[in-house]
Amino acid sequence: MKIIVKESIAKDLTKFVIQSPLIAKKALPGQFVVLMVNEAGERIPLTIVDVDKEKGLITIIFQEVGYTTKLLGKLAVGDSLYSLVGPLGKPTEIKNYGKVIVVGGGVGIAELLPVVKAFKKAGCEISSILGGRTEKLVILRDQVKEFSDQLYITTDDGSLGEKGLVIDPLKRLLSESSDWGLVFCVGPVVMMKAVSDLTRGYKIETIVCLNAIMIDGTGMCGGCRVTVNNKTKFTCVDGPDFDGHKVDFNELMTRQKRFLQHEDKSMCKLNKQINNE
Ligand SMILES: Cc1cc2nc3c(=O)[nH]c(=O)nc-3n(C[C@H](O)[C@H](O)[C@H](O)COP(=O)(O)OP(=O)(O)OC[C@H]3O[C@@H](n4cnc5c(N)ncnc54)[C@H](O)[C@@H]3O)c2cc1C
Ligand code: FES
Repeated sequence: MKIIVKESIAKDLTKFVIQSPLIAKKALPGQFVVLMVNEAGERIPLTIVDVDKEKGLITIIFQEVGYTTKLLGKLAVGDSLYSLVGPLGKPTEIKNYGKVIVVGGGVGIAELLPVVKAFKKAGCEISSILGGRTEKLVILRDQVKEFSDQLYITTDDGSLGEKGLVIDPLKRLLSESSDWGLVFCVGPVVMMKAVSDLTRGYKIETIVCLNAIMIDGTGMCGGCRVTVNNKTKFTCVDGPDFDGHKVDFNELMTRQKRFLQHEDKSMCKLNKQINNE
């Protein structure tokens, strides 16, 4: 659980390579770990972005959005995590889907990378669409490009690629050809909803990788429940991948906001700790 490499990818985005031979041995694309920074800390889920089975290493990439991810960002090479559990979740179903569109937004691009690699290895023809608010937030684009047949980039401010949202090149691709085998999407909930709403009309199988708030990661606490096809599912054990046409995104968006007050309090606590140092 020792941090071997620490690298800043963009503002508030950090990559860690962590020693964890048992997780590295078993991890498959689409799976994640749940980690704790210290004994009193909360448990947070992060995708396993890469593995080196021979050296027993796993890579995670995280965005500092709140208390725990900010504490995580303060760890240095040589430090150890308090706990690291995984690999968790069902792996992404990898097979040759033919022509595939993969869509990644923000830090979701990190979660997309292992899946793109695996799709390519399985023989898929891949059109990748990456989006972010600005150039610096469209991370890992060279790595995604390496495994893509076409790459389209959009930014909200037009600083890189096309000015606009990922949905714009997606609309064009869907209208230009009718033989897409799959659309795979990971990013903010609102983006996954928009992509699923669009592909529903074209009847193209669409998989989304959900980021429900998790606590135990084992299917026991119910914290990560989502409604899929009018049935309750637990993202940690039944997902994180689901059929985007069957997910109740409005409910998911409401549930993502339910700890906002607690999250604000945690950030105040962290700011006080930093100021007292
Ligand atoms: C299966 C899975 C894989 C994930 N992989 C990654 C990854 O590879 N890299 C990465 O940076 N993040 C990933 N996330 C999101 C990550 O778990 C959250 O960013 C983290 O738990 C936030 O903790 P915090 O205490 O720092 O922030 P908090 O104070 O808890 O929250 C800060 C803000 O982040 C939002 N947030 C909290 N939890 C989540 C969540 N689970 N998903 C989305 N937004 C959240 C809150 O609504 C709030 O706006 C993943 C989530 C899941 C479920
Ligand atoms: S995180 Fe507890 S049931 Fe999924």
